[in-house]
Amino acid sequence: MTATILDGKAMAEEIRAEVARRVSEFVSSKGVTPCLAAVLVGDNPASEVYVRNKRLACEKAGIHSQLHRLSAESTTEDLLALVDRLNKDPQVHGILVQLPLPKGMDETRVLHAVNPVKDVDAFHPDNVGRIVQGRPRFLPCTPHGVHQLLMRKNIPIAGSHVVVLGRSDIVGKPMAIMLMQRGPGGDATVTVCHSRTRDLPAITRQADILIVAIGKAKFLTADMVKPGATVIDVGINRTESGLVGDVDYDAVREVAGHITPVPGGVGPLTIAMLLHNTLAAASLQTA
Ligand code: GUN
Repeated sequence: MTATILDGKAMAEEIRAEVARRVSEFVSSKGVTPCLAAVLVGDNPASEVYVRNKRLACEKAGIHSQLHRLSAESTTEDLLALVDRLNKDPQVHGILVQLPLPKGMDETRVLHAVNPVKDVDAFHPDNVGRIVQGRPRFLPCTPHGVHQLLMRKNIPIAGSHVVVLGRSDIVGKPMAIMLMQRGPGGDATVTVCHSRTRDLPAITRQADILIVAIGKAKFLTADMVKPGATVIDVGINRTESGLVGDVDYDAVREVAGHITPVPGGVGPLTIAMLLHNTLAAASLQTA
């Protein structure tokens, strides 16, 4: 079998067009243009690219974007002062502090300082708590993108065994919570695996849906996949041979039923869901 490719890029374009249409309606009816403030600290080249792509996508959807830069030598206090200013600025609806922050900065303090109604990453504990309780304000962009992909491609979720590789706060944990929730888009049986999991292939081979987010190039090999399974690759690894995912794509696509490519899979969906969240934030803040 050769897997059907799940084209995240095409789906992201669809979602972006939907958001752009809703932004235009919002601007007409409310007289307010949604605005995202991106905060970039230091000079991480990958972060530069991500933030540039996010801002370009905003502008194309009719969303204003601001870029706030701090040098790598800035202190946590400097960053907290900036976040405080953005929290209080009524023109700013969404705040995105690009991660990772330079070494020595207190990421937890910074993420907890973002006003939860402007927290378009959904990293604030108030938003995480709401997700766990099944009454989300925002959903984090990457797992939300994966979830949209599964639902819009009619991959059965209810009753399926989903195996999530990776337990990060950004992807693995919220992904698992979203898929195990009661109701539409949920009701999966979810197993979360990580670096201490014993006999990983025995577990991954049980998965109907495998979501791989561990940040190791070509980690998931064909022998770890049940024939016909849906394989979602969240990884973006820079190697000598270019960008590769966490999945050994060429071999796994011969076994899987559906598979996402890298690039062109989950990445573009992450940006589309950021636009969705920025519009949602503007709606929440506009009576
Ligand atoms: N760095 C890698 N992924 C993300 C993300 O989803 N949001 C932010 N703010 N930084 C990231």
